[in-house]
Amino acid sequence: MKIGILISGRGSNMTAIVEAVQRGTIPESEVVVVISDKTGAEGLEKAKARGIETVVITRKQRSREEHDAEIIAELRRHGVELVCLAGYMRLLSGDFVRAFPDRIINIHPSLLPAFPGLDAQRQAIEYGVKISGCTVHFVDDELDHGAIILQQAVEVAATDTAETLSAKILQYEHALYVEALKKIAGGNYEIIGRRVNLL
Ligand code: GRF
Repeated sequence: MKIGILISGRGSNMTAIVEAVQRGTIPESEVVVVISDKTGAEGLEKAKARGIETVVITRKQRSREEHDAEIIAELRRHGVELVCLAGYMRLLSGDFVRAFPDRIINIHPSLLPAFPGLDAQRQAIEYGVKISGCTVHFVDDELDHGAIILQQAVEVAATDTAETLSAKILQYEHALYVEALKKIAGGNYEIIGRRVNLL
């Protein structure tokens, strides 16, 4: 399974995926390209250091569709079969979603459908929830909305801030993303309506 990863920043989830693939934890998979929409994204160096080809495709003054078309072309050029969003800070166009049907996965730092969008950990703190967590899900053209693959609950302590909660959740994100990819890349799942059953 040829995997392409999209990032915008730090790239810790991307690194976890690359390392899991390189260890053989995600069988018969290869990360063939890491694409960033931000020049100088921290994750780019981490990908290069692990021998992965990197490409920067910025939006410039283009429409979302034009920007996505260039990204889709780059993914296709590398023969990508599964797209992983890992801290990619853009909503995908319908064209993008249709180009890889049920083949785009994202991780979000809350228990969806609670707290979609930016700053999910701060939203959780401000709401006062006692449990938050992270979600790995398929991507559709609505924000943080596609079918849920796996979730991990994380307790929110009375003393937590958005920053400490983010750090706590992040520790679980990496393992959760790898766990989900083992199943999805291995084809060990079925989708019935919105329900994803891991087999
Ligand atoms: C993570 O919290 C992820 O859930 C969210 O953006 C953050 C990306 O972090 N989508 P990193 O770039 O993977 O370190």
